[in-house]
Amino acid sequence: MHKKIVLTGITPSGTPHIGNYIGAIKPALEMAKNPDFDAYFFIADYHSLIKLWDGQLRQQYIYEIAATWLAAGLDPKKVMFYRQSDIPEIMELNWILTSVTAKGLLNRAHAYKAAVDANIAEGEKDEDAGVTMGLFNYPMLMAADIIMLSADLVPVGKDQIQHIEIARDIANRLNHIYGCNLLKAPEALVDKSTQTILGLDGRKMSKSYNNTIPLFAPSKLLKKLVMKIVTNSQLPEEPKEVKDCMVFALYKHFADETEVSILAERYQTGIGWGEAKQILFEKMDVVLTPMRERYEYLLENKQIIDEYLAEGAAKVRIEAQQLLVKLKQQIGL
Ligand code: ADP
Ligand code: TRP
Repeated sequence: MHKKIVLTGITPSGTPHIGNYIGAIKPALEMAKNPDFDAYFFIADYHSLIKLWDGQLRQQYIYEIAATWLAAGLDPKKVMFYRQSDIPEIMELNWILTSVTAKGLLNRAHAYKAAVDANIAEGEKDEDAGVTMGLFNYPMLMAADIIMLSADLVPVGKDQIQHIEIARDIANRLNHIYGCNLLKAPEALVDKSTQTILGLDGRKMSKSYNNTIPLFAPSKLLKKLVMKIVTNSQLPEEPKEVKDCMVFALYKHFADETEVSILAERYQTGIGWGEAKQILFEKMDVVLTPMRERYEYLLENKQIIDEYLAEGAAKVRIEAQQLLVKLKQQIGL
């Protein structure tokens, strides 16, 4: 049976946080274990050029993201694990796709529209002020990432669904124009069960809001940050709702079922926020410490990461070249 190809990328534009782990990395790694899928997970370093203009920081984030995937359990023997910029074929495909894509399709992309709307709201004369071509073409490059490896399914957060739809449109359009069926139209896979993890201030945890718990914060810092999570002002003896409680929501992702039901019970009978946070911290620390140790080891031994990424790129390039050869033939290049 033909295995479905699952592909996803993470942009190295910040230090990975608990939200990235629960919302993206952990579910992707669970999919990779499913024998019905072939998984392709990559570091979208070209995408980071748009938001981050500091080369040294970029290098750091690339290694941090790579070490995070590996520490979280990615097995590079089973998963195609690579860096986008190691696959130059993606850039060639990017131009081929650009040439058949209507500008209007990208005018409607959320990130670009949001930038334009912000300019208009601020009374800027130029609607496109501060918009680079990179920002405008961001969904194009994403389409190239996906189409290059003929991905069937792309696990992403809600904010990225539109980008996968754009990739579908582009693949179908090229097939239509050149009368072929070479490009696979992908589907977004949004895991409805993973809710958005909230940050320390109660907004979505995001590097843009400076409210994150770094996934591999040292124990002492982890404890300090967990203690900072915003809770309500209920007294210890008052029964508490588990729903919408961030302490409880996080606990669910790290503890087993029995532990979760014990804490739920404590919420009913009364527990102080300090104690609840202490229980959460201890659980997170137990789960994260072995991963953190592996993460730190990899960052001190970056040549291991380089080797994995080089091996991944070599395998992925062969597949990318196979599609590109056929596509070039089809379009007369
Ligand atoms: P950030 O919001 O910190 O910039 P990104 O947009 O780079 O994070 O997200 C990378 C991946 O992590 C995406 O798949 C996204 O859906 C997921 N993710 C980010 N923040 C959260 C969160 N708070 N809860 C759940 N998933 C998240
Ligand atoms: N844009 C995605 C994000 O910010 C990262 C990304 C780049 C990606 N290329 C991709 C995700 C291809 C899935 C498939 O989260």
